[in-house]
Amino acid sequence: MISEIKLPRLHNGQLQVKHELSRFNVLACGRRWGKTTLAIDLAVHAMIAGKPVAWGAPQYKLLAEPLRILSRLVHPANAKINLSERRIELSTGGSIQFWSLLDHNAGRGTKYALWIIDEAAFVRDLASIWNESILPTLVDLSGEALFASTPNGHNDFYQLWQRGLNHTSDWHSWQMPTATNPHIPVKEIERIQATTPESTFRQEFLAQFEQNEGAFFRDFRSCINPTLQIIEQPGVEEHYTAGLDLARKHDFTVLTILDSKGQQVVWKRWRNLPWRAQLQAISQIAKKFDCQIRVDATGVGDPFVEQLQSEGLRVEPIHFSAMRRQQLLDNLALRLESKEIALLDIPIQTAELEAFHYSEKTGRPDAPSSGHDDCVMALALAAWRPGSVAKIY
Ligand SMILES: Nc1ncnc2c1ncn2[C@@H]1O[C@H](COP(=O)(O)OP(=O)(O)OP(=O)(O)O)[C@@H](O)[C@H]1O
Ligand SMILES: [Mg+2]
Repeated sequence: MISEIKLPRLHNGQLQVKHELSRFNVLACGRRWGKTTLAIDLAVHAMIAGKPVAWGAPQYKLLAEPLRILSRLVHPANAKINLSERRIELSTGGSIQFWSLLDHNAGRGTKYALWIIDEAAFVRDLASIWNESILPTLVDLSGEALFASTPNGHNDFYQLWQRGLNHTSDWHSWQMPTATNPHIPVKEIERIQATTPESTFRQEFLAQFEQNEGAFFRDFRSCINPTLQIIEQPGVEEHYTAGLDLARKHDFTVLTILDSKGQQVVWKRWRNLPWRAQLQAISQIAKKFDCQIRVDATGVGDPFVEQLQSEGLRVEPIHFSAMRRQQLLDNLALRLESKEIALLDIPIQTAELEAFHYSEKTGRPDAPSSGHDDCVMALALAAWRPGSVAKIY
C-alpha cells in the first residue's frame, strides 16, 4: 500500500525550499544540511503521483546511498526494486531511474517529470550535460529539476545558481548553512570551525562560493578527463610532443606526452633512478612515439640533452630564465583556460596544479615552498607553443 511509505518530517529549511519551488531549482547548502533527504522527499512524492523521475550524481558510487534509502522507504508499498538496473517502480506507475552523470547520454531517449541532480557542483561539464542531455528529457512533460550541492568554486553550478537569484524566470536559488539542519549538533559545527581553514569552512559549511584568489591555474579541473587513459602504443598518423622535467637533487623526473588534440596520453615519474636508466627509459618512449622532446636544459640538463641527442632523438633544449619560465606557465594556463588540453586523472599532477600560487614575494607563479613543480613544468614544456603567450607582467 502506498500509504505505508513513511517519509521523515522535513526541517524548516527544507520546508521553506519545498514551498518556494519553481520549475528549475538550485539548492546551494552546507554539508549535511539535508539536501539528499529533501531530494528523496520530492522524488517519492512525484513517484506517488505516478510520475517518472530521474536521479543523477557525478559518479556511480554516489548513487548507492540514495538508492538504498529510497528502496527502504518504498519497500513497504510493494515497489518493484531492480538494484542492478538502478530502477524502482511504484504501483501508481511512478518510477525512478538512477544515472551516473559521467555518462553524457544520461536519460537520452526517455522523458521525465522531475530530474534530481545531487552533488551537482561536482558533475563534470554540468552546463553541457544540462543543456544537451537533461533538459531535452523534460520538455514532453514540462518537467522540473533540482540541482542540489555544496558549492565548489565559481564553476557551472555557480552559474546556474546565479540564474535563480533574481527569481524572474523559471529559476529559483537558495543558499543555506549546515546549521539550518536541527539534527546536526551545534557543538560539532563549532568544533569543525575551530579546526578548519576559514575559506574551507565558508564553502563547506556556510555554502559560500569561494574563489581561490591566489591560485594560478583556475578552473583547470574541468580539463581532467577521467576516461582518458595512458596509452602504450602511438595512434596511426598521430603527432606527439613531450615535455621532460629532469630531477634536481631530491626532485622527480617527469615525462608528459600530449597528442595533436592536446590530450595527455603519457605520464611517467621517476625518483632516484640512475641517469643511465632514465636515459634508456626516456629514449625508448620517445622513439616509440616518434616525438619531439622539450627539455628543461638548465643546470643538470645540458649534458643529459647531449646524450639524448646522441641517441638520435629530436630534442629541443629550453633554458629557463625567469622570463621563459613565466612564458611557459602562462601558455599552459591559457591553454587550460580555453580547454585546449585534456588531462589524465592523476592525483599528484592535480595537486601540483592546484597548489601553484602567485608568490607573495615575487608576484610570479610558483609551487609552494614545501611542494614540487615537476608535473606542472613537464606539462608546460609539452604544451609550449612559442609565440602564443599573451599575458604581460
Ligand atoms: N528532515 C530530516 N529529519 C531527520 N533527519 C534529517 C532530516 N534531514 C536530514 N537529516 C539527517 O541529517 C543528516 C544529513 O542529511 P543528508 O544526507 O540528507 O544531507 P546532505 O546535505 O545531502 O549531506 P552531504 O553534504 O553529506 O551530501 C543525515 O543524518 C540525515 O538523516
Ligand atoms: Mg547528500
